[in-house]
Amino acid sequence: MNRKSFLTSVGMLSLVGGIKKVDAITKKINQSLSGSIQMSKFELANLPYAFNALEPYIDAKTMEIHHDKHHAAYVNNLNKALEGTSLEGKTLEVIFKEISKQPAAVRNNGGGVYNHNLFWQVMGPDKGGKPTGALADAINGAFGSFEKFKELFSTAAATRFGSGWAWLVKSDGKLVISSSPNQDNPLMDVSDVKGYPVLTLDIWEHAYYLHYQNRRPDYIAAWWNVVNWDEVEKRFASSK
Ligand SMILES: [Fe+2]
Repeated sequence: MNRKSFLTSVGMLSLVGGIKKVDAITKKINQSLSGSIQMSKFELANLPYAFNALEPYIDAKTMEIHHDKHHAAYVNNLNKALEGTSLEGKTLEVIFKEISKQPAAVRNNGGGVYNHNLFWQVMGPDKGGKPTGALADAINGAFGSFEKFKELFSTAAATRFGSGWAWLVKSDGKLVISSSPNQDNPLMDVSDVKGYPVLTLDIWEHAYYLHYQNRRPDYIAAWWNVVNWDEVEKRFASSK
């Protein structure tokens, strides 16, 4: 090998080495980026009160299993369903707008995460009673009275066949009562009634079966004692 060929070979090797270094750096950047994406995974929201805070209406064991097992499973399964898809990093509200285009795992687990986050917020210890202010006026205007609203909402919850949710929804500027199957909600494009969910009630058996067994109407009647109207009023005020 003459000197020129030798230098050319050394140059090529340097070039190859350089490319390998660039590859290694790129790999590290990608690992770091994927690490930051992992940081944005959905996390299990803390229950805003103790497991026994809603007793005697909802028992501590039910709340513990509901939050730590069922809700946690929706979070884990949602993260698995989103991994490596174009939906990673998007909010649930954005995903729900075109949920009809997504696999069942995203619809079921995404709904499961959102609906339970909301459900914990609209309940609380030492609550119940009646709404006040603008929400009370809107309920009276839409349903005639608070008692009539309770009756209609309770019927929607009691008559939803199988698992699902009952909703008070701000839909096109009006308050509407609805129910949804499985983990669907009014933010989804598949929902019969679309709008902003103001109040919700979980009517899956996992929400009440330990204490109430098959007596869903008893669970619904007891649940009114733990509704956090302050939170519901805030949601109504922030809805469009
Ligand atoms: Fe649930």
